[in-house]
Amino acid sequence: MPPLLPRWFAHRGGGSLAPENTLAGIRLAARLGFKAVEFDVMLSGDGTPVLIHDETLERTTNGVGHVCQTSDAELFALDAGGGERLPRFDEAARLCRQLGLLANIEIKPAAGFELATAEAVVRMAAELWRDAPLQPLLSSFSLAALEVAGDLAPQIPRGILYTDVPDDWLAEMHRLRAVSLHCDADLLSEAVLAETRARSIPLLCYTVNVPEQANLLFERGVSALFVDRLDLFCP
Ligand code: G3P
Ligand code: MG
Repeated sequence: MPPLLPRWFAHRGGGSLAPENTLAGIRLAARLGFKAVEFDVMLSGDGTPVLIHDETLERTTNGVGHVCQTSDAELFALDAGGGERLPRFDEAARLCRQLGLLANIEIKPAAGFELATAEAVVRMAAELWRDAPLQPLLSSFSLAALEVAGDLAPQIPRGILYTDVPDDWLAEMHRLRAVSLHCDADLLSEAVLAETRARSIPLLCYTVNVPEQANLLFERGVSALFVDRLDLFCP
């Protein structure tokens, strides 16, 4: 975890101002002054880590079918919006390093691919950020993926990611040696807030697109927010 965690993370690359999870989005975030970006990584049919959110191609590309059943040749010929193609994870990583961005790599396995996805992404991340002063932050809804991450690259910090934070979150954080808690801003409870504050655990909330809500969350002690409306939250 960097000594000073940025308050704002551009969500899915460039939020809603660019095609999601694309290099154009990451470049836009940096241009607008963001110091951190979040993006989702899944395996292609050939086992290549690529930036994409859904298990299927329809919503964000002109392709059809499942990402995990699509070959690289097909996948990288698709349009992911505005003529952008899906980025490979290594391309996104190199771009973040070049732009000095903190990367929150969300390991987003298709169902059944939790361990394979974590293994491929974490091995690659360890290589891509080897000796880098600013390490990325790995996160996942899949606790199995985070466990693999901790085993393979303990030097890369991990954030535990939930929609609604369960009662055993602290025990799970300790088990996984996670450094931060990430959750849905709309489901955040006072109890979780109080506990993270008391223990100085960084709390990162998604997805906030209303400035008043952002202010309130920071007042309540939230550390950082994932935002889509980059224009409203230019750091
Ligand atoms: O990592 C925070 C956030 O991205 C989790 O939700 O569905 O946008 O990946 P989602
Ligand atoms: Mg995400």
